Amino acid sequence: MRALTVHPATARSLEVCDVPDPVRGEHELLVDGLAVGVCGTDKEIVAGEYGWAPPGEDRLVIGHESLGRVREAPAGSGFEAGDLVVGVVRRPDPEPCGACARGEFDMCRNGRYTERGIKERHGYASQSWSVECDYAVGVDPGLERVGVLLEPTSVVAKAWEQVVRVGGRSWFEPRRVLVTGAGPIGLLAALLGVQRGLEVHVLDRVTSGPKPGLVADLGATYHSEDVDQVTSAIQPDVVIEATGAGAVVFGAMAGTAKYGIVCLTGVSPQGRKLSVDAGTINRELVLENDVVVGSVNANLRHYRHAADALAQAERSWLERLITRRVPLERAGEAFTAQEGDIKVVIELA
Ligand code: BGC
Repeated sequence: MRALTVHPATARSLEVCDVPDPVRGEHELLVDGLAVGVCGTDKEIVAGEYGWAPPGEDRLVIGHESLGRVREAPAGSGFEAGDLVVGVVRRPDPEPCGACARGEFDMCRNGRYTERGIKERHGYASQSWSVECDYAVGVDPGLERVGVLLEPTSVVAKAWEQVVRVGGRSWFEPRRVLVTGAGPIGLLAALLGVQRGLEVHVLDRVTSGPKPGLVADLGATYHSEDVDQVTSAIQPDVVIEATGAGAVVFGAMAGTAKYGIVCLTGVSPQGRKLSVDAGTINRELVLENDVVVGSVNANLRHYRHAADALAQAERSWLERLITRRVPLERAGEAFTAQEGDIKVVIELA
């Protein structure tokens, strides 16, 4: 079968090539791949800056934002041929650490977790794949065109859960949320904020293309001014940060309402320097009981929340997040940004 692979740590090694067909284990599903989404992590892997092949191999099948259709399922697994499924990205470390031992592998402490398509496990960018039944998540049958958004939605579902749990340390009735960045993560964070009944604001640099309309159609407010202008105008109780851009991150930290929570989800490149007034930021965090919390990956609970959130969302709005679909044999095109791109998807079927 055909699969999208790289030589980790080697730039320009992306190649669609033949790899062995998957063999379904006893407690596994055999799945026909429908699509994989491309995110910033995939671009880093393709640039040779991230990613690890399985031990003893030199190529890694990439793809961690999956969607497929079950071809074979073990009896009694709760899955049947024809079901739409998404494979979970992370697996607990083999030791396992206390968090992994409790199913919270997204909070792994010793860093020995593995991730499909990213870290020491082949991903889902292949014509078929197998997955442990316990790490497959069923998707509403009506979501065939957009179910590939489940993994990024799980990341955002976890971020919202962090906000709620951190907020729960005292009285917490947030009203206003600012989402910084209107890429897939930011837009999905905005969707979940609207679903929670919050007043949602989204900040992004662009003033044209599909983003402003997508935000407006959620009933949220689009902004493209400087972060400081936006925060001083709206005083957000919560910021979901999805740009990873230093100036936006620190602007958000300094600009929340009292008892504000900033949840960081953007992975920024290393080595970018910025001069900040550390005294003011520290003072504001202390005097306002503010919290800045980082959030990565997602566990099974977050995938289930995400599946519910997508099932509740308007399909046509979700479809508009997927701005380009590229066939597997031309997958390389998915890694070259085009104007108006939000989520680019590689079709496997
Ligand atoms: C994925 C996460 C993963 C992280 C770090 C992100 O792009 O969505 O699941 O944990 O990369 O590898």
